[in-house]
Amino acid sequence: MDWGMKNRISRIIRPDTGRTVMLAVDHGYFLGPTSGLEEPGKTVAPLLEYADTLMLTRGVLRACVDAGTNVPIVLRVSGGTSVLKDDLSNEGLTVSMNDALRLNVSGVALSIFVGSENERQTLLSMADLVDEAQECGMPVLAVTAVGKEMVRDSRYLGLACRISAELGAHIVKTYYCDDFEKVVRNCPVPIVIAGGKKIPEKEALELAANAIKRGAVGVDMGRNIFQSDHPVPMIKAVREVVHNDMDAATAYDMFTTLANETVKAGA
Ligand code: 5RP
Repeated sequence: MDWGMKNRISRIIRPDTGRTVMLAVDHGYFLGPTSGLEEPGKTVAPLLEYADTLMLTRGVLRACVDAGTNVPIVLRVSGGTSVLKDDLSNEGLTVSMNDALRLNVSGVALSIFVGSENERQTLLSMADLVDEAQECGMPVLAVTAVGKEMVRDSRYLGLACRISAELGAHIVKTYYCDDFEKVVRNCPVPIVIAGGKKIPEKEALELAANAIKRGAVGVDMGRNIFQSDHPVPMIKAVREVVHNDMDAATAYDMFTTLANETVKAGA
């Protein structure tokens, strides 16, 4: 692997812990003004210092994130669908590699839709993106299993993750499931998990802790952080789970203590 690729990957996955807390705020690319992201700049600003990586679209990056930030960016480069249409799988590439380089990002992300009507189109898009990305040392993050129609079990997720890796993705994002260790074992590149829809903080921390225990290198979490009533305490607790193997119960105690302090301080 060339130096540039290694360097960029080390900006996404921290070399000292081998783990990462990615903050995902790209939801608007098909959902529009998602709850909690109505004003993405305001949502992201207090969280930035606790995120190892920020995952978002180029529009929000350019308009809402200070170009002086040191936080490595993983840029979503797929889209073309909206929540108004039934088929979310009909995606194509939305950003050129040149623009990704101009934006100085540390990685590019696209969704693949294994088992959907547009399986072939999204997998071939990924292969094309990997070809271009290889040329400039840009890691590709494959996002698997977005959408409602697929059963998110270890068989399906294992298939989607393995295909992503086989076609050249450098990191794969998927969902936690029973037998998750099997999904990890069968995927030769690092896996991060999405948080999914908002659940109580205790459960989200359990989800993260279970994924880490079973081999995920981190989280690429959005709604369970930015839709929390206390996003900063939540991302701090998630960091402890991911980087310091804190157990979920202790992390939840930490979250409630920090949240109470925030309320007392009137913040
Ligand atoms: C949507 C995405 C999101 O970034 C992903 O789902 C992570 O966010 P959340 O933790 O809210 O599920 O890739 O396509």
